[in-house]
Amino acid sequence: MSQLQNKNFWEEAWLKHIENYLKTIPRTGFFIKTLLRNKISSTLEIACGSSRDSIYLANEGYKSTASDFDDKTIAYLQHRFGHLENLNYQIADAFNLPFDDNSFDLVYHNGFFIYFHNNQDVFDLLKEQERVTRKYILILVHNRLNSKLVSEFKKLSNEDKLYDIRFFDPIELEELIFNLSLKIKKVIILKFGSFGRFGVDSYLSKIFKLPFINSFIETILLNLIFKLYQTQMWEDTERIACLIELDK
Ligand SMILES: C[S@@+](CC[C@H](N)C(=O)[O-])C[C@H]1O[C@@H](n2cnc3c(N)ncnc32)[C@H](O)[C@@H]1O
Repeated sequence: MSQLQNKNFWEEAWLKHIENYLKTIPRTGFFIKTLLRNKISSTLEIACGSSRDSIYLANEGYKSTASDFDDKTIAYLQHRFGHLENLNYQIADAFNLPFDDNSFDLVYHNGFFIYFHNNQDVFDLLKEQERVTRKYILILVHNRLNSKLVSEFKKLSNEDKLYDIRFFDPIELEELIFNLSLKIKKVIILKFGSFGRFGVDSYLSKIFKLPFINSFIETILLNLIFKLYQTQMWEDTERIACLIELDK
């Protein structure tokens, strides 16, 4: 088992990284709101880490549950953000989620499957994710077609094991999903992540805090950013977003 699947590794890693993660923009939350808007009302984040996206979605009015198997980090987050309306924290191992079947409209994770090199683990995790999902599954993983990113991570992993991850090819990911007998209505593969040379992501948090940004302008901006992501070449794209609509 890789140490990135080990709870103790994450307890220590989050002591070092959590504040920085919490300062960055909740871009998965933005993506979800743009993509699914009022098609969902409840969400579960698996392997939530900092839970920045669940915090954002709760503030946007979605009933959000943030879960992770690292109980110390969950306790810290509960203490800090547990008062927010619409936000629940839950200690949960993604292989055995403590929720009933069909509990949430959307169940998602960002940067989680990348720690599982063995396809059987990915299958088991997906089956469990499907069990607790009513409508949509969203998976975000790092893109192997971006060779610059692959080599950057390889270099960084010599210093910090956090970067020692599995990259996926968009077609490989789609095939993996169709190999499982999930109750699928539709699968959509999208591009996600930093908008290369324009560095749009790094300006977002500043833009959204400007006084003239009301919800109308915010919606236009979010749609624009979503469209910009899709215009990137796969070779420049940071992550693959895979949305599965279930037929339940
Ligand atoms: C890179 S982090 C996710 C970051 C998160 N998306 C964010 O925005 O902060 C990966 C997370 O996976 C969690 N994790 C690893 N194995 C797990 C498992 N079996 N069940 C639940 N969580 C797990 C770790 O505790 C860690 O918080």
